[in-house]
Amino acid sequence: MSLRLFSWLLPLLLYLNLFFRRELAAAEAGPIPSAAKTLVWGPGLETDIVLPARFFYIQAVDSSGRNLTTSPGEKTFEVKIVSAVEEFTRIWIQVLDRQDGSFLVRYRMYATYRDIHIHVLLKNKHVAKSPFILKGPVYHEGCDCPESSGSVWEANMHCPQAFPQIDRDLALYASVDPDRNAQEIPQRFGQRQSLCHYTVKDNKVYVQTFGEHVGFRIFMDSILLSLSRKVRLPDIEFFVNLGDWPLEKRKPTENIHPIFSWCGSNNTRDIVMPTYDLTESVLETMGRVSLDMMSVQANTGPPWPEKNATAFWRGRDSRQERLELVKLSRAHPNMIDAAFTNFFFFKHDESLYGPLVKHVSFFDFFKYKYQINIDGTVAAYRLPYLLVGDSVVLKQDSSYYEHFYNELQPWEHYIPIRADLRDLLEKIQWARDHDEEVKKIALAGQQFARNNLMGDKIFCYYYKLFQEYAKLQVTEPKIREGMEHVEQPSDDLFPCYCHRMKPKDEL
Ligand SMILES: *[C@@H]1O[C@H](CO)[C@@H](O)[C@H](O)[C@H]1NC(C)=O
Ligand SMILES: *[C@@H]1O[C@H](CO)[C@@H](O)[C@H](O)[C@H]1NC(C)=O
Ligand SMILES: *[C@@H]1O[C@H](CO)[C@@H](O)[C@H](O)[C@H]1NC(C)=O
Repeated sequence: MSLRLFSWLLPLLLYLNLFFRRELAAAEAGPIPSAAKTLVWGPGLETDIVLPARFFYIQAVDSSGRNLTTSPGEKTFEVKIVSAVEEFTRIWIQVLDRQDGSFLVRYRMYATYRDIHIHVLLKNKHVAKSPFILKGPVYHEGCDCPESSGSVWEANMHCPQAFPQIDRDLALYASVDPDRNAQEIPQRFGQRQSLCHYTVKDNKVYVQTFGEHVGFRIFMDSILLSLSRKVRLPDIEFFVNLGDWPLEKRKPTENIHPIFSWCGSNNTRDIVMPTYDLTESVLETMGRVSLDMMSVQANTGPPWPEKNATAFWRGRDSRQERLELVKLSRAHPNMIDAAFTNFFFFKHDESLYGPLVKHVSFFDFFKYKYQINIDGTVAAYRLPYLLVGDSVVLKQDSSYYEHFYNELQPWEHYIPIRADLRDLLEKIQWARDHDEEVKKIALAGQQFARNNLMGDKIFCYYYKLFQEYAKLQVTEPKIREGMEHVEQPSDDLFPCYCHRMKPKDEL
């Protein structure tokens, strides 16, 4: 055979090979979604659920009514949002493929519209009840238009009736006295700790700071301002601890002070709130470069059977057990891949802890089946993101907790490990030997996070906390001397007209 003949035969053969492989792949791709049977639901389809990024879900269903359990392809569904009156809407949309047959659609509105129509399309055919019509005004995040009734807002948001952690935290207080606290708390903590003293009065936010390191107050300011744009807050006066460690160490029988903290512990009485990290991720969704609870869901690594069965951890040296973990990893590299990306607290001994490794994108954690969650300074604030991926979490027992930990069940949502890590190797081996059970735990953890840790629930949690706390107040919250007014941002490009704030004489 001449070379010339070969020169065109080879590309042809390659082409045929590719062609058949593609055909095969299409056949393997499995069930095809049906526009009529596919399900679409979620808060982003409701006018009155105002969130920084609104979101809803698509579950692909085939023509026989079976849910798809693998992705039918990232671009299967197309989502368009149109306004009946404006040609160009300032809405940023993203369709996130969760790789399990479902999609998370998020959109961020930069202006308020009278009505919007959400089109969910499958090969140009409307899916389910598409187009979904949101009768306006449909407010954007920046619009200052609070619903005056808290119960109406909670009903609109489908908030849970109660949060057990709030009930537990507030059960320690028969009442709270803002006058007394305004005196005593700054005296007790104001010198050595970084605190914010907030008063919300007539839905306006006032603050005074104590201590040196008060930069983190921006997270608290932001959530208070965001919430007060959505719903009228009760009048409240309270203290927020801006430090890592919870503060109130007195026994419940002593004169304890209510302090709001991002982290709670078995040995303190602080009232916990969602962490600043989770709160910021909700407020800045689609505006922030780092991870958030939605972007993680589209980046959960390879499917379960292809994930690496070495337990994984990366982080900095903020606790003794983390040093132990890295030592353990060096002794058992076939079981654990744990390494430091940063050394800050302890003296770095390379012979013991190995060289520092390059920072790994959080999304790459999910190449591994087993995620080790181990305390840092306090609770490791990455747990929400670890849970919502589709790996299983091995969680160290700890006296520190975030606002949702007490609702998690060991063996149901995560695999527990001892605080001193002594059973870690044994638990990893158990996980390797019980793959089906472990996969179920991974999915239950993921489901928990999907149901409880998205933005709508975080707003509900804060509101419920403020509302329940307000009921305990026995003196009137006051704007104290030294407080400053925290103003709503005024740089909103597209101011809105709030129908709830008509001047009185117009009514
Ligand atoms: C299909 O998915 C929907 C949405 O997640 C769920 O409510 C339903 O129970 C699933 N159906 C089956 C048969 O698993
Ligand atoms: C699994 O991960 C470990 C540690 O990162 C690595 O050494 C090993 O090669 C990986 N295994 C496979 C099959 O990729
Ligand atoms: C903290 O309290 C929880 C709930 O009571 C318990 O399960 C956990 O073992 C405690 N952990 C530590 C380290 O004290």
